[in-house]
Amino acid sequence: CAASVYVVRRRMKSAGKWGRVIEILKVFEEDCATPVGKLRQVADAMTVEMHAGLASEGGSKLKMLISYVDNLPSGDEQGFFYALDLGGTNFRVMRVLLGGKQDRVVKQEFEEVSIPPPLMTGRSDELFNFIAEALAKFVATEGEDFHLPAGRQRELGFTFSFPVKQTSLCSGTLMNWTKGFSIDDAVGQDVVGELIKAMERVGLDMNVTALVNDTVGTLAGGRYYNSDVVAAVILGTGTNAAYVERAHAIPKWQGLLPKSGEMVINMEWGNFRSSHLPLTEYDHLLDFDSLNPGEQILEKIISGMYLGEILRRVLLKMAEEAAFFGDSIPPKLKVPFIIRTPTMSAMHSDTSPDLKVVGSKLKDILEVPTTSLKMRKVVISLCNIIATRGARLSAAGIYGILKKIGRDSPKDGERQKSVIAMDGGLFEHYTQFSECMESSLKELLGDEASESVEVIHSNDGSGVGAALLAASHSQYLEDSET
Ligand code: GLC
Repeated sequence: CAASVYVVRRRMKSAGKWGRVIEILKVFEEDCATPVGKLRQVADAMTVEMHAGLASEGGSKLKMLISYVDNLPSGDEQGFFYALDLGGTNFRVMRVLLGGKQDRVVKQEFEEVSIPPPLMTGRSDELFNFIAEALAKFVATEGEDFHLPAGRQRELGFTFSFPVKQTSLCSGTLMNWTKGFSIDDAVGQDVVGELIKAMERVGLDMNVTALVNDTVGTLAGGRYYNSDVVAAVILGTGTNAAYVERAHAIPKWQGLLPKSGEMVINMEWGNFRSSHLPLTEYDHLLDFDSLNPGEQILEKIISGMYLGEILRRVLLKMAEEAAFFGDSIPPKLKVPFIIRTPTMSAMHSDTSPDLKVVGSKLKDILEVPTTSLKMRKVVISLCNIIATRGARLSAAGIYGILKKIGRDSPKDGERQKSVIAMDGGLFEHYTQFSECMESSLKELLGDEASESVEVIHSNDGSGVGAALLAASHSQYLEDSET
């Protein structure tokens, strides 16, 4: 996660086209800079906003949503449950057989279905019908291993990864869409109600016993295997975090004090913004052109949906103002979101001496037949600047949470571990990003505190987590306990 590796940062004597390329690159690099002092300011601003969001509804850009999860999985959960995970361009349906402390997840089956893009901006009933149909098809493939005791209704944990104001563990209204979804008539609706109506339309009889954000699911899934997990972070299409808060520290919580004394909070940190964030001209324009201008500012500089798009915008400026790709501008470069983050990641990790992956991606995607090594190095530098900023800001966010819950510095003689469960494609597949995030977190914590903080990958924890929460809130729980 060092600054640009390849570009020789020598003052260009000539103000020629190449000089202009370097100038654009340097200004971008400066505007994206995240020295450790700035990261500390971001982390402090994050903790201030966390307090404000917990104090009152709408008190901060950080929604700090109450999840109604006041008990995380213990390992004792048993039985057969379904989970549905909706939050990106794909959704997953899953069934899980839980065997209690000894056997844990005995069997698990899932299917992934991609959502046709028009459904992401259409009508609520169309999206939910599509989901319910896929779920019904999946239920029809249920084998004998997944045996349901006679007379029992199937139960489902629903991971819905958008901001929801929960009214109970199994109900909540959608506040707004994020990540490229925009279905107006669903906003303000109970998403569980929408799902149940669609399930009835397709003749599927299933009870939704838990509605959770993916961060909350990941926290539950992480805690199931590791009792030191205190927070979960998603770095994927979008970005967000959830953590375990003391119920006493949530002034806006009107309900009874939970027995555990704790409550999981879905921060919706993607919506964080602060004057300390390093924002560039490209970010402002990306935001302006987005489906949700003014919203999800942190998400728009960190997450997988946007990183490749930032790269495209800088390259377009270089093409327009410095003839980066020659005299004409490659038409494909004008297509929003044409450079996807996995492509950017593949280019960024190109270690071949002639950067041939970079060359071939530019050829395939932008239809630029030839590029010089010098140009490819500029592209790598841009990837590095964009990924480094995102990764370091994610680390600052995690550091902010650890500060809020007093886990940022080891107390005298105390060796309590704090584990952060991570998931999401960006974390899983973009190595430079995740390595930079982890090293920046160490830098912020310092050597001693770093020893008590661990970042783990909770692979698809959110699906299993939702099934676990469905299990611990099953309508049949009392029957089986008595
Ligand atoms: C977006 C959603 C949030 C989700 C995150 C990661 O930020 O608003 O609910 O957790 O993406 O999927």
